Amino acid sequence: MNKEVPHDKGLDNSLSLYQEGYQFIQNRRERYDSELFTAHLLGQNTICMSGEEAAKLFYNTELFQREGAVPKRVQKSLFGIGGVQALDGKEHDHRKKLFLSMMTPKEAKKLGELVLGKWEACITEWEQAEHIVLFEEARKVLLRTACEWAGVPLNEKDIAEKADDFTALVDAFGAIGPRHWKGRRARTKLDEWAGSLIEGVREGKLEVKEGTPLYTIAFHYDLEGKLLDTHTAAVELNNVLRPIIAIAVFITFEGLALYEHPQYRTHLTTDLEREIFAQEVRRYYPFGPFLGAKARKDFRWRECDFKEGQLVILDLYGTNHDADIWETPDQFQPERFRKWNGSLYNFIPQGGGDAATGHRCPGEGITIEIMKATLDFLANKIDYEVPEQDMSFSLVKMPTLPASGFIMDHIHRKV
Ligand code: HEM
Repeated sequence: MNKEVPHDKGLDNSLSLYQEGYQFIQNRRERYDSELFTAHLLGQNTICMSGEEAAKLFYNTELFQREGAVPKRVQKSLFGIGGVQALDGKEHDHRKKLFLSMMTPKEAKKLGELVLGKWEACITEWEQAEHIVLFEEARKVLLRTACEWAGVPLNEKDIAEKADDFTALVDAFGAIGPRHWKGRRARTKLDEWAGSLIEGVREGKLEVKEGTPLYTIAFHYDLEGKLLDTHTAAVELNNVLRPIIAIAVFITFEGLALYEHPQYRTHLTTDLEREIFAQEVRRYYPFGPFLGAKARKDFRWRECDFKEGQLVILDLYGTNHDADIWETPDQFQPERFRKWNGSLYNFIPQGGGDAATGHRCPGEGITIEIMKATLDFLANKIDYEVPEQDMSFSLVKMPTLPASGFIMDHIHRKV
């Protein structure tokens, strides 16, 4: 038994997890003054850990695997069944190469330019509107951007429904009840839609440019030299589209950060200043709360016995707010990224480690370019006012968002 390791009392702490959300692990880390503790979660004795050293351990693929770690309810909503997230070893390496081949720095820049163009195309309509909700606009702009880049045909009349469906996938991950089921229904619809696109391309009925993600996924061969089955290819196409649309959450927080820290607005004229601001938005505001993996074998770390098959959870939000890593972690200070050491394990809003060899998000470059382009737009291309509204965001609901979605009015093109 783990006598030296704090154990969170109670038959099952899942309810506390839902009640404390993003701060569940951090609260206990402070309470027990320990970077790891055990708790009963989802009916299992689970190790929860936080911080840079814990992240290094978590990404050691000799000690941890993903297969069996992602709950089925998350696979059936957020991720999709058969996607890269739950693969290990050679199969994961091979599938990950597919993603990395589509998400090069050049493609990320292309997406940044595309999204800026799409934002600028909104201005005339916004000038006539009483107000706009940034989150709603961002979802539509990102859906158009993602589809154009990926080679996916999109009818203007389908945009609202598709944006809702993609949001429902993300909204389902921390939910029980109707929000979760909405995500499951959206998953079925979106996988069928993506599957029909994959088949259309393979059968030559849908023309798509070589090199686009739709083409690349449709003609990707697995380790046995076979094309992915239609469903798996559909899941992976949605693994490209869904997260791009999810950047709307960070964009809404960018709007909030600019409002709460207006002194930075005039700084955002250079790429570097936009980059450090975007990084601080990804660190400071909550999005992905934590990740799970299973111990591959018995081992001991920091006086704690890890048992083969045991569920282990790594705290993303808490690590990004860890006072051992970040000075004044609960203050918004983009300047801190001027001297950040670039560690692969201390700043982990999209996972840690090396994206090429582990599960770290391959879309960080895309996320940052889209966030920078949006900052350029909000700070340098338009003037707007921010009316009174409820901008508070919950640290319990996962994923979270400012309640109002961030309302802007009196919008004008800057001259
Ligand atoms: C994985 C977050 C944007 C594609 C992940 C992981 C997180 C994450 C936490 C899990 C890392 C792990 O399991 O170790 C985010 C956030 C984003 C974002 C917060 C911004 C909204 C993107 C974008 C793309 C993308 C833009 C692609 C266009 C993926 C894929 C994986 C992944 C395919 C699975 C990687 C693997 O299992 O090897 N992301 N991501 N993400 N992300 Fe992102």
